[in-house]
Amino acid sequence: MKPELPLEVYSPDLGNPNDPASIAVDRLNREQAAQELARLAATIAYHDRLYFQEDAPEISDADYDALVVRNRQIEARFPDLRRLDSPSKRVGAPVSKGFKKVKHRVPMLSLENAFTLEDVTNFFERVGRFLSLAPAQTFAVVAEPKIDGLSAALHYQNGKLRLAATRGDGSEGEDITANVRQIATVPQVLQGKNIPESLEVRGEIYMNRSDFFNLNHQRVQEGEAEFANPRNAAAGSVRQLDASVTARRPLRFFAYYYEAISGDTTTTHHECLQNLENWGFSVASEIRLCQSLAELAEFYTEMNGKRADLAYDIDGVVYKVDELAWQRRLGSVGRTPRYAVAHKFEAEKAETILEEINIQVGRTGVLTPVARLKPVTVGGVVVSRATLHNADEIDRKDVRAGDHVIIQRAGDVIPQVVSVVLNKRSAASKEFVFPNCCPACGGEVVQIPGEVARRCMNRLLCPAQAVEHLRHFVSRDAFDIEGLGIRHIEAFYQDKLIQSPVDIFTLEERDKVSLTPLRAREGWGSQSANNLFEAINERRTISLDRFIYALGILQIGSVTAKLLAKHYRTLPVLVEAMQQAQDPTSDAYRDLLNLDGIGESMAEDLLSFFHEPHNLAVIHKLQDQLLIPEFIIETAAESVLSHKTIVFTGTLEKMSRAEAKATAERLGAKVAGSVSKKTNFVVVGADAGSKAKAAAELGVEVLTEEQWMEICNGLVKK
Ligand code: IVH
Repeated sequence: MKPELPLEVYSPDLGNPNDPASIAVDRLNREQAAQELARLAATIAYHDRLYFQEDAPEISDADYDALVVRNRQIEARFPDLRRLDSPSKRVGAPVSKGFKKVKHRVPMLSLENAFTLEDVTNFFERVGRFLSLAPAQTFAVVAEPKIDGLSAALHYQNGKLRLAATRGDGSEGEDITANVRQIATVPQVLQGKNIPESLEVRGEIYMNRSDFFNLNHQRVQEGEAEFANPRNAAAGSVRQLDASVTARRPLRFFAYYYEAISGDTTTTHHECLQNLENWGFSVASEIRLCQSLAELAEFYTEMNGKRADLAYDIDGVVYKVDELAWQRRLGSVGRTPRYAVAHKFEAEKAETILEEINIQVGRTGVLTPVARLKPVTVGGVVVSRATLHNADEIDRKDVRAGDHVIIQRAGDVIPQVVSVVLNKRSAASKEFVFPNCCPACGGEVVQIPGEVARRCMNRLLCPAQAVEHLRHFVSRDAFDIEGLGIRHIEAFYQDKLIQSPVDIFTLEERDKVSLTPLRAREGWGSQSANNLFEAINERRTISLDRFIYALGILQIGSVTAKLLAKHYRTLPVLVEAMQQAQDPTSDAYRDLLNLDGIGESMAEDLLSFFHEPHNLAVIHKLQDQLLIPEFIIETAAESVLSHKTIVFTGTLEKMSRAEAKATAERLGAKVAGSVSKKTNFVVVGADAGSKAKAAAELGVEVLTEEQWMEICNGLVKK
């Protein structure tokens, strides 16, 4: 049963031209406007509750914003019809602030997903290759259930719980100590032997299914909204500012690994789990030490069968290399460790009606068709939209408005339309015609040869792209400005307050002399305006990698942005190098392509970005507003390898090329693909060819694999 679902939420008959919800704002009469304001107030309140309290949004931010904007436009035409419960009074209200931020000493990573046995085989083989294991060598892997809750880090000092934090963005979470102290299965004081003096236990906060049903039952009796599923219930309960509310919620905690800061001699993951149990933690009971892929596959099948009988929700199983020394060697790439993988269960499916196909315009102008669905519950969550990917996909599946469709949802993945139930199709249904002009700006839509996507070519002149560009600029891995969410971005864009990234940083200055300052806007006050200015000012100092990522250059994600920041170190050096590299015969161009991780197509996108005068002007204006310090590579300590450029050549016998590269980077070095006068060391394996020769000619220091291993063994922390 849905939480207090107001009838108006899904009732608009958008196909009916007489339904007020289908009528453009400037054509609504008074009566229709009043009806629409009532519907919008109920609908927005409903989505606010799902978003802020249940942690279970049903619609995208863009769709939510469209409702808010429509409400505001109608109110502007009929100010006297504004309702006492108008949503415009609430927009800009502070979002669950109040928890202190906690920086994670060691980042809280997430897991790469595997959906098929082939993906798992690839994971297995990758591990073997990285560690240079013999092809037939087997190794121990621990298989565990993947609990569907929210992860937390618990810090113990001398066996006493001192701090608990959410994962947050992986680098920084929220201090939830007071709430975690209320969870019965979290030991306040550890028991048993060999407890490390300083210990960080990580695990999942979750709710048993039966407790979740009881809680919802009780909430209905008390006239409160139900939670959509146990995970949302657990997340909503942990996020309570009042810990006495958390105390009344039946939360539990499973520990799944720990980081000992000192004094631990355990060498395998399965022993760690044993230690956790001995110290008083709950550890999931269905855990198995496997020796082969076949054993993992068996575990997966068994767990899939048992899934419904377990007391708690799981959405897959997790495989972790057992040897801790190997885990350390494998390290991580981006936000995921190389030593573990999540093998997800098959997506849950449901049938519903596809009401309409809408087109969304993304940051890079790509037009994405999105299915608006008759809301349906899939795996405990109400789904009302699903992606259709692109025009080819619509053609291939022959999806049409009005069709009965099968949709699926896998974990956090956006719901997808799997297929059409053809025998339920109406004879009157019509094939979908992909628009040839942009729905946001009317601009020409082009299909670039070799690409499936169709794009609007109006770039920042297209309001949808400009808004998405701004949204990317302030997003989590970019400027991460608290309180400047998509709703504000869109409203500020429409009102011409923020149209380009630099406007964010001049907002306060302009606001001081504005006749309509922010504090006087609907839903804002002095406090919320000052909070926003403060959040913006906090980001005037930004690291180079975040800055590069924020620029939104095609193909340049946060990993590549970091690579560029590491290599060029400062913004002026990067800009200068990109200018010089416009000439494909230049050293700068060779230098760019020589970066391990930058291919020709990426280089092309980078260079065309830096070729565009408009982009350079934006960068220069931003430079006036910001402080971008020289990029410092975080290494344990300065070492003989810090800031050095290394080239590997020939076959390494003790370490795979991937491990050698990862180790060098961890020690502060850069790895290049070819030898130049900037190379500091060439590590020569067996059968080295021209690169060893080039090193000799250029007088670059050559290391044997043994010498390289010696340097590493001396520097890598055990
Ligand atoms: S290990 C670096 N083990 O899944 C290892 N995670 O999709 C990271 N999760 O953020 C976590 N059960 O919240 C691990 N047995 C388990 C897990 C588990 C659930 C969650 C965890 C993590 C997410 C990644």
